[in-house]
Amino acid sequence: MRKNIVAGNWKMNNDLSQTESLLNDLKKETNRRNAEVIVAPTFVNLYPAFQNLKGTAITVAAQNMHQNDNGAYTGEISASMLKSVGVTTVILGHSERRAYFKEDDELLAQKVNTALENDMRVIFCFGEELAERKNGTQESVVESQLKNALFHLNEHQWKNIVLAYEPVWAIGTGETASPEQAQDMHAFIRKVVSDQYSKTLAEAVTILYGGSVKPANAKEIFSKPDVDGGLIGGASLKAQDFFEIVNAF
Ligand code: 13P
Repeated sequence: MRKNIVAGNWKMNNDLSQTESLLNDLKKETNRRNAEVIVAPTFVNLYPAFQNLKGTAITVAAQNMHQNDNGAYTGEISASMLKSVGVTTVILGHSERRAYFKEDDELLAQKVNTALENDMRVIFCFGEELAERKNGTQESVVESQLKNALFHLNEHQWKNIVLAYEPVWAIGTGETASPEQAQDMHAFIRKVVSDQYSKTLAEAVTILYGGSVKPANAKEIFSKPDVDGGLIGGASLKAQDFFEIVNAF
């Protein structure tokens, strides 16, 4: 179950032609790969991306989705819509969704349920803010984020959960968590999952690190025993940088 993953979260970047052009560059890359590669373009570009990447080993993911299956929710996108255009992986709980769109643990638990009911894989993001890191409460913050949004799931459902620890203070700031800080938190996350479920599950769950991962620091971060890959923002928008990160494994 546990595997190496490098996922590019493109956020609100790249129109259709930029999407095609970046995907074409990514496909040209022939380096060896020891990780699953995922890209998450915006909603409007998911289907073109899926078409473009057919026959390659690169997976397409959505950056969000609604918790309901359908209905009067203007502007929203459902799990079945994503699946109908070939997308079976979704990022949920990103700190930008939490901060700018007021997504809380309760809503995220509903979104996780909906995704899993639709047989989708969830990349679940969580992480503390700067003030919480400064006052030393990062572990309790992370533990409660996991508990509130994921710990109602049964062990079997976890096969479709990928965790992504993204300390908010490291996102888009250029300030990366040190490899030791990432390792310490990932080990803590595994302990919390082990206490709640089992050691077997804790060892099997894939845990990504996100926050200012770049070609220059990826190797050291990925070399840590409890770090199984990365969720990459800014550096995933440049094919060369992204593949240097992928090949850091
Ligand atoms: P950056 O890599 O730009 O810091 O963004 C990380 C992130 O938010 C990935 O989801």
